[in-house]
Amino acid sequence: MYPDGLHASPRFVALSIFAAAMISAQNKGSAEKGNEVFDEQCASCHSAYTSDRKVGPGLKFLFAKEKLESSGKPVSDSSVREVLDKGGKGMPAFKANLSEDDKTDLIAYLKTL
Ligand code: HEC
Repeated sequence: MYPDGLHASPRFVALSIFAAAMISAQNKGSAEKGNEVFDEQCASCHSAYTSDRKVGPGLKFLFAKEKLESSGKPVSDSSVREVLDKGGKGMPAFKANLSEDDKTDLIAYLKTL
């Protein structure tokens, strides 16, 4: 009923939007996956629900704070990634134990706290 071109193009547009959404979701990280990693690797030392200290500082409102308690650096994707990579006093370095994607997901999750 329709010429081929007309038929294919909306589908192509829909696919492109889907692909673009997948790519941007990947770059921003998944808070949901970050939550899983947090529960496995971080929750024993950090509370996600309060600012109270367990072994390390509570991480509720982390990204609402101006500075990291540990280093005094401004809270940002890169300063938090640095903490994850290098660890700190009493915190193990995760550089070798978490993939870049895990870290991106964790940061996305920490932003929701
Ligand atoms: C063995 C306990 C332990 C584990 C496991 C741990 N941390 Fe930590 N974390 C700490 C301690 C202690 C500090 C404070 C370090 C310092 O003062 O130098 C800290 C600091 C931090 C900070 C900086 C907070 C601030 O305000 O300065 C972040 C962010 C953080 N941890 C995130 C994580 C994440 C995410 C994980 C899981 C991948 C994790 N930690 C696993 C103990 C831990």
